[in-house]
Amino acid sequence: MELVTKKIILDCDPGMDDALAIVYAAGSPELELLGITTVAGNVSLSKTTSNALRVCEFIGAAVPVTPGSAAPLLRPPISAEHVHGADGLGGAPLPPPSGRPQPGHASDFIIETVLGAPGQITLVAVGPLTNVALALLREPAIAHEVQDFVIMGGSASRGNVTPAAEFNIACDPEAAAVVFSAGWTVTMVGLDVTLQARANDQVTGSLRELGRVADLLLLPCLGTYAGNADGGPAVHDLCAVAHVARPGLLGCQPARVDVETAGRWTSGMTVTDFRASQPECNALVATAIDAQAFWDAVLEVYRPLAQSLSG
Ligand code: BDR
Ligand code: CA
Repeated sequence: MELVTKKIILDCDPGMDDALAIVYAAGSPELELLGITTVAGNVSLSKTTSNALRVCEFIGAAVPVTPGSAAPLLRPPISAEHVHGADGLGGAPLPPPSGRPQPGHASDFIIETVLGAPGQITLVAVGPLTNVALALLREPAIAHEVQDFVIMGGSASRGNVTPAAEFNIACDPEAAAVVFSAGWTVTMVGLDVTLQARANDQVTGSLRELGRVADLLLLPCLGTYAGNADGGPAVHDLCAVAHVARPGLLGCQPARVDVETAGRWTSGMTVTDFRASQPECNALVATAIDAQAFWDAVLEVYRPLAQSLSG
């Protein structure tokens, strides 16, 4: 039987867990990675763009990388270098890129790609939502022309940069507010599930067997990630991309999600109402994850890729 692949665009800010997600997206037989768009977030735009190129070149993935916004819509950037390292990849010793990013802006790439294949593209955003908001502001029709829209961001239950707000939403709450009110259904893969699928000792043991790709990329992208003491590092962005390839890994519930942009203590909070009526709902919120099945799926993609790179 012919495998039907999902065509995806990955909007990201690599970022260690973004890098793990890129490797999965490029290697999964269930996904066709049409392009990567980059945004400022974990580190500056020049670093996230360079890192996306470095990761793709290292794994031999010929994927166009188009840079987007260097700063949130209205606020100054917040960096997460204290988590992801000054280079954004936890010091992974990959060479600098030899290729160049694509000309143009990420938001235009998103618009053109989505409108060029109506109903066929899944847009996956795992960084601050600035590029996606700009694309929606310029061409609101994309909200009705995507096949699906999935983010890693937010949470119904907690924050990680503040008690209320998750990093990707906290960076650019105004962009997130545009995105959640665009008239599409946002699949929100947030901290509620990503903190439940940590790379524990058993997982890192399995990754260690993968050789070069693990030594030079996957393990450095786990090694210094905050939360190591707490059951292992979380791999937030990888959860969102794996869900696109294998929707059965997560359990999702419909909800109304609004983004707090003004709160003194709650700026960037994704206020989630599971009691909302069906017409009010704008999101599918991930509330459960099968962690064992998730890591099995990840290793199923990483193993053959590792083999092809070591041969
Ligand atoms: C999110 O914030 C970033 O630091 C990670 O790359 C992930 O996208 C987790 O809150
Ligand atoms: Ca990210």
